[in-house]
Amino acid sequence: MTQPLPPAIHRRDYRQPDYWIRRVALEFDLEPHVTRVKARLEIEPNAGTAADAPLHLDGENLVLLAVHLDGRPLADGEYSLTDRGLTITKPPAGFFVLQTEVRIDPAGNTQLSGLYQSSGVYCTQCEAEGFRRITYFADRPDVMAVYRVTIRADRKACPVLLSNGNLAEEGALPDGRHYAVWEDPFPKPSYLFALVAGDLGCNEDSFVTRSGRNVRLRIFVEHGKEGRTTYAMDALKRSMRWDETRFGLEYDLDLFNIVAVSDFNMGAMENKSLNIFNDKYILADQETATDADFAGIESVVAHEYFHNWTGDRITCRDWFQLSLKEGLTVFRDQEFSADMRSRPVTRIRDVRALRARQFREDAGPLAHPVRPDSYIAIDNFYTATVYEKGAEVIRMMHTLLGEDGFQKGMRFYVERHDGTAATCDDFAAAMADANGADLSQFRLWYSQAGTPELEIEGRYDAGEGSYHLTVRQSCPPTPGQPDKAPMHIPFAIGLLDGQGRDIPLRLEGEADTAKPGRLLQLTTPNQTFRFVNLPQPKALSLNRGFSAPVLVHVRQDGAERAFLMAHDSDPFARWEAGQQFATDLLLQRVTEIQAGKPADAAYDPAFIDAIGQILHDDGLEPAFAAEAVALPDEDYIADRMAVVDVDAIHAARRALRRQVAAAHRVTFETLYEASRESGPYSPDAAPAGRRALKNAALSYLSALAESDVALLERIAGQYKAADNMTDRMAALRLLADLDGPERQAAFDDFEARFRDDALVMDKWFALQAVSSRPDTLQRVQALLAHPGFSMQKPNKVRALIGSFTANALRYHAADGSGYAFHADRILQLDPVNPQVAARLLAPLGRWKRFDAGRQARMKAELQRILTAPKLSTDVYEIASKSLAD
Ligand code: TRP
Ligand code: ZN
Repeated sequence: MTQPLPPAIHRRDYRQPDYWIRRVALEFDLEPHVTRVKARLEIEPNAGTAADAPLHLDGENLVLLAVHLDGRPLADGEYSLTDRGLTITKPPAGFFVLQTEVRIDPAGNTQLSGLYQSSGVYCTQCEAEGFRRITYFADRPDVMAVYRVTIRADRKACPVLLSNGNLAEEGALPDGRHYAVWEDPFPKPSYLFALVAGDLGCNEDSFVTRSGRNVRLRIFVEHGKEGRTTYAMDALKRSMRWDETRFGLEYDLDLFNIVAVSDFNMGAMENKSLNIFNDKYILADQETATDADFAGIESVVAHEYFHNWTGDRITCRDWFQLSLKEGLTVFRDQEFSADMRSRPVTRIRDVRALRARQFREDAGPLAHPVRPDSYIAIDNFYTATVYEKGAEVIRMMHTLLGEDGFQKGMRFYVERHDGTAATCDDFAAAMADANGADLSQFRLWYSQAGTPELEIEGRYDAGEGSYHLTVRQSCPPTPGQPDKAPMHIPFAIGLLDGQGRDIPLRLEGEADTAKPGRLLQLTTPNQTFRFVNLPQPKALSLNRGFSAPVLVHVRQDGAERAFLMAHDSDPFARWEAGQQFATDLLLQRVTEIQAGKPADAAYDPAFIDAIGQILHDDGLEPAFAAEAVALPDEDYIADRMAVVDVDAIHAARRALRRQVAAAHRVTFETLYEASRESGPYSPDAAPAGRRALKNAALSYLSALAESDVALLERIAGQYKAADNMTDRMAALRLLADLDGPERQAAFDDFEARFRDDALVMDKWFALQAVSSRPDTLQRVQALLAHPGFSMQKPNKVRALIGSFTANALRYHAADGSGYAFHADRILQLDPVNPQVAARLLAPLGRWKRFDAGRQARMKAELQRILTAPKLSTDVYEIASKSLAD
């Protein structure tokens, strides 16, 4: 190791701070490279703090210009300074005032944490530990203070000056400068502080809360892009109304501002009354955004707004509790989307994403509990586990308590903890206490990592007329957790009769009347449920609605899966049956390919027929049908294999696509023609669903395009004729994998059209990086030099490099060229933006799942990264954990 190990922080070491900071006054004099920040902190010792306890304030990359205590400059021996912060050696016994002045360099801040500039606009990102890059402070979420912020800047460069709370004062200053003073009445932790200054356009609207408060809503964007904020504004108003009606939670200030910037490490940030967004999650119109982009905007706008209660009013005691706000807020935004759109389709998409990101994380070297026990860099823990699995944990509580019980628990949680910094245990306790429920075993979901696995066996006893369902649960070891205790798992099931109807179910010894579908409580390693008095079932439906984030192993033949695909009353389970049927077939074919058999032997006609039935079922909503006919992606199949074979998976899936396409060609063509819209474009869920089905049909047809020029021309034709980005992108995505002059022509056309639109160009970069064509890596290499690409811009990095690492086939090229390219980019990016570099690194950590050759190459790249001089803590943590056996 070339450098000392950064220390890990442990959850068990939490203790309250020695000092509270109750009131903060900040003054900013903004200049691109020399910004001055004055801070006046009102401080008092915590009860029980020893009289001579030193006061440590965090600070990074700050130049200290002055420090005063109760108005008196501190002498050399009265404080000490390191590159991690400022320590006041012996503060006074009671209340005191500390004043500091520092110099910072926003224009030179490429990490995008703290105060930085994005296209000339000053903005901040303080979560998790960015505030210490602005001023010296107790930068931890349990220190909550009231802020007054004065911003001074050049009026021409920065006509807009914003911070949290209410505008208290503004006015002119000499030398063409001006100022604004903002006051936030709500105490908040430093990570929720925000400041924006720049020359921005604005879309203004208003919202009247249910108790009659008139709230001014503004969305600030680059001049000229105001017209692209209509959908985001609409989503904001719908979020505000929904939180009132579904959760009884109302907005608490007279204004709410959103600012969209183009350079941002994550999606968006919930700073009190001043949300800052990656512009990807604000800007949209028919020509530039896809239906998926619109849906993403709706959910992220809602997510950040919902944080006002679950995050801002009630925040986290320490960063181990991150899921307290994130899991809960993701659950809330998922429910919002489900209420706004199709509930089943929303659930299917959420589960797809959970499996692709969280199950994968849980199965690898970076697995950690929803409430982690230790970290080196907290920024590395904004993970799918904390967010998405955290949301599943909340959802399971909702399932166990019901909507009424859950809302009762929420009201109690808010009442008990409003204005404080709380823990995950506090939340679970509020839910349990409000409902008189016992969630003690359930809480293991917070502490145990790994995806639980269920082995299921069902048996009908014809003599008794009973059905025996045996469920064995287990959870694989994860780093630091070799042995797992059984979990409390809410498991929804049903049994279907020969007509596909739900059989009413009654458990042995139960007085209740029989009910169609049951929620089983799994609590021990091995349980048998005995249902009595029922006819022979035809099919067993499991984990309905995905009631628990678990892996289900059950032996079901194609006939049973096809029957569930056609009849299950639970739409999620219906979709799932198709996914599992296809997965079985693909895994089987992979084994055959490895045994030297051809990839394109005929697949089970029962599956192909079942897809046909879905296509002909007029009762299905198109968005659901589009999900139901989509084959599981290559990564999903890879995750089911002990040793991944990317080439065989690709060949097997390609053959199945072709066979489905060939069998239903006429149906796909009819469907394609029938679902072409004639009216004006609308991003709403229903027309978006019709486009999804139409483009699913086109995607199947493209599987036949290599031998059929007419189909290739149809795809190219859709690209050219498209009046919206959804159709344009769908066609371009298909062309990206195909041969012929149409492909290059379309990419050139796209570039010519959108060259000046950075956000749209992200799509152009991404589609070239995910192409299955053999020259993809060379293409990606070449695009690094494209004028639109920059390592300083996280959206570009994710579009080009992130997309390439998600290209199962080309990233995992057997010669290791994909891995070497990846590691080179990490090393190049780390000094620029360590947060983004670390997040980009995860794919290399999957080495254990590959053959010896690929394993060796992936590990060698991780080694190479680790031995680089001056590695960031962020990248160090991910690389070293990824390499551990
Ligand atoms: N709290 C933000 C959210 O979930 C996440 C976030 C935004 C973030 N920016 C960040 C996390 C920077 C870490 C670093 O909405
Ligand atoms: Zn969040």
